[in-house]
Amino acid sequence: MGSGLAFWSPLLHLLLLLLLVMCAQGTGGRKMSETQLEATHNLMNPMDQRIHAHHSSSHMDHMDPSVMIFFTIKDLKVGKTMAVYFPKRDTSKSPRLLPRTEADSIPFSSEQLPQLLQLFSFSKDSPQAKAMGDTLRQCEMEPIKGETKFCPTSLESMLDFTHGILGSNTPFTVVATAHLRNSTTHFQNYTILNEPKEVFAPRMVACHTMPYPYAVFYCHSQASVNKVYKVELGGEDGDRVEAVAVCHFDTSDWSPNHASFSVLRIKPGTSPVCHFFPADNLVWVPTSTSV
Ligand SMILES: *[C@@H]1O[C@H](CO)[C@@H](O)[C@H](O)[C@H]1NC(C)=O
Ligand SMILES: *[C@@H]1O[C@H](CO)[C@@H](O)[C@H](O)[C@H]1NC(C)=O
Repeated sequence: MGSGLAFWSPLLHLLLLLLLVMCAQGTGGRKMSETQLEATHNLMNPMDQRIHAHHSSSHMDHMDPSVMIFFTIKDLKVGKTMAVYFPKRDTSKSPRLLPRTEADSIPFSSEQLPQLLQLFSFSKDSPQAKAMGDTLRQCEMEPIKGETKFCPTSLESMLDFTHGILGSNTPFTVVATAHLRNSTTHFQNYTILNEPKEVFAPRMVACHTMPYPYAVFYCHSQASVNKVYKVELGGEDGDRVEAVAVCHFDTSDWSPNHASFSVLRIKPGTSPVCHFFPADNLVWVPTSTSV
């Protein structure tokens, strides 16, 4: 990883590259290598299970460090130290982003899972099959009240969804967590180095990467009040992260089993819940000059 990439989220870089490649070459082959498939499984991003699914509280008794992304708004100040989990993934092994025509030609539904497993040559008991099934189910789940969600399978459909939410005449931009060092530590104490900066975001669309043989995002937007921040973090091992975080001010419609409540020891709707985004998540916000 050259330091030239330092100011880019690796995924953004990848997206831009892919966009260029797609424009230049049109549709590529559909073959997936073993490493890609393995990487898909390793990329399993429990974010949406954490954010949406109904975890049993007993599951949380031995807390998985990957839920250590939550904090309260009171923690959002210079000098605050907290243990944070940042997955450091090798983005060169990320699943391929397909052009829309290609993505749209592949069914995307739980009902068709058996055919999809055949298409991608996974046995039905494989971890990849489980990951695909989980992703499809997450994508088919009804949104919670006040939420709009969609799972784009291409950059074009992600942009269409974002346009639909932010307004078709609203120019928008993307923010993402960027790792400024090569630290390989996933879980450590980080200290907030500078005053967190609020990002102009009257509305936002957050897109999480999902485990699948090709790039699939889980995008959602909530009507309730959210604030987006850029937070400079310094890790105990010298790591530096320009993290993107969101604070949800109304959590009253969230499941009481939502992981954040056990991490923060609070109840739904009692105080804002904030979390950092991993580097491969994309947060779309209107450009601030647009109003
Ligand atoms: C990351 O490591 C590579 C090789 O070890 C080095 O060349 C590069 O400068 C490092 N980048 C940063 C941001 O420290
Ligand atoms: C963070 O620091 C505290 C206090 O020094 C320590 O007890 C804890 O183990 C550290 N956490 C991590 C993840 O290193």
